[in-house]
Amino acid sequence: MSNLLKDKVVIVTGAASGIGRSIAISAARHGARAVLVSDIAELPCEGGTPTTQEIDALGVTARFVKTDVSKKSEIDALVDAAEEFGGVDVMVANAGITARDDGADVSEESYRRVMSVNLDGTLFSAQAAARQMKAKGKEGSIVLMASMGGIVGAGMTVAYSTSKGGVVLMAKSLADALGPDGIRVNAVAPGTIDTHLLRTSPGIAEAAEGFRKRTPLRRLGKPSEIGDAVVWLGSDMSSYVTGIALVVDGGLLSVI
Ligand SMILES: NC(=O)c1ccc[n+]([C@@H]2O[C@H](COP(=O)([O-])OP(=O)(O)OC[C@H]3O[C@@H](n4cnc5c(N)ncnc54)[C@H](O)[C@@H]3O)[C@@H](O)[C@H]2O)c1
Repeated sequence: MSNLLKDKVVIVTGAASGIGRSIAISAARHGARAVLVSDIAELPCEGGTPTTQEIDALGVTARFVKTDVSKKSEIDALVDAAEEFGGVDVMVANAGITARDDGADVSEESYRRVMSVNLDGTLFSAQAAARQMKAKGKEGSIVLMASMGGIVGAGMTVAYSTSKGGVVLMAKSLADALGPDGIRVNAVAPGTIDTHLLRTSPGIAEAAEGFRKRTPLRRLGKPSEIGDAVVWLGSDMSSYVTGIALVVDGGLLSVI
């Protein structure tokens, strides 16, 4: 499709399903040399072929690496796996979850689980990638998956929004810390994207139709539209862009 990611080694967490799967496939379509598909399970949440098979079919090398992003040791092993291909150039910390009982009374267990995946996992992914990039003198790109829920609050997603707001400031803070090494760090903040997470998260699923109607483009987003944004941030086309939260929402945040 293009050579925007030519010769780049790309890691995507949460890449079995939804947005992560689309990002991994987009990376392959845009010339990546190798794509490491990381997730807790290899099969997409909704079934279908594993992401690695889709990428193999494009003639690009793909590896599935089973990783629970809330465990630092597993992320370190994931990034070590990129050594085989010369090290990671683009790290996409995409894995994220919602909580079934989110809201003002979210349980301690759910709150901690959301934070451990959405915040801890995102930080550990960025740290491990940056460490390897610095060791190899690579001017890499790190993309963190935030959400429109990390820019505006919502009573039904207290834990989730808190975690995603943290991701936005994590990107800004890491951009400052890693910029002198030539490493860029940005967040992407999707609006309502048609995925398993959107359709199965209580509160969010019911609100989706209302969001669609209020969205200036009058439709939900496609996972591939987040993939396109991430490819741009991973590529040299965005070489002077760091510390931003790129909103990809069909215009929704501009009008609510
Ligand atoms: N769908 C939306 O509307 C939307 C909007 C804004 C932000 N996001 C964010 O986009 C990202 C992807 O969401 P999605 O809609 O594709 O969801 P999804 O549920 O379809 O996919 C998420 C993937 O993450 C994996 N995952 C869950 N816990 C993990 C863990 N501990 N370690 C590794 N992988 C794990 C799951 O197995 C799954 O494959 C998330 O960070 C989500 O918060 C989604």
